[in-house]
Amino acid sequence: MLEKDIEKVFYSEAQIQERVKVLGQQISEDYQDKNPLVVGVLKGAVPFLADLVRAINVHLEMDFMDVSSYGSAFVSSGEVRILKDLDTVVEGRHIILVEDIIDSGRTLKYLVELLKHRKAASVKIVTMLDKPEGRVVDMEADYIGFDVPNEFVVGYGLDYIENYRNLPYIGVLKPAVYENAD
Ligand code: PRP
Ligand code: MN
Ligand code: MG
Repeated sequence: MLEKDIEKVFYSEAQIQERVKVLGQQISEDYQDKNPLVVGVLKGAVPFLADLVRAINVHLEMDFMDVSSYGSAFVSSGEVRILKDLDTVVEGRHIILVEDIIDSGRTLKYLVELLKHRKAASVKIVTMLDKPEGRVVDMEADYIGFDVPNEFVVGYGLDYIENYRNLPYIGVLKPAVYENAD
């Protein structure tokens, strides 16, 4: 079972779900009659996006992008490359970019600039987690679930070598998990 690998829970399933409801209500108020295009950044954003859109009570469309930053499991390098582009025309659309976490800020910086270049009517960012201490470039979300300290967190979309995304809560792995990975 997955729990045995978890050292500490940062945000429980109940805390996350409560926070998602509030974010959904705020977004509903801000996007009435705007038919926003909600863009999930694969793969980490998927669990959050799935919960968030069901907490939003206005018409919206969904689309996905997959980008990759070159780097190791722990540290991203800053170079971003598109693996899957949007299917939707961006010009004139109100975009809501959904992320599981903002760390260095590089992924979102790249995506925001790309969407502005494609003449989006507006681009806003909603992230479940913000790790301000990780920031390398200027990037601030418009809607934030929770702040996290500068630790490697997993769950609710966040992976360690592609695992643990399906945890319904956010936590820190036991050191033994990393030791066994070699
Ligand atoms: C992670 C995370 C964010 C990004 C944040 O994605 O889901 O998308 O890194 O880091 P940054 O602010 O330093 O750019 P990752 O590239 O690991 O892909 P994944 O979502 O498929 O795990
Ligand atoms: Mn991601
Ligand atoms: Mg990842």
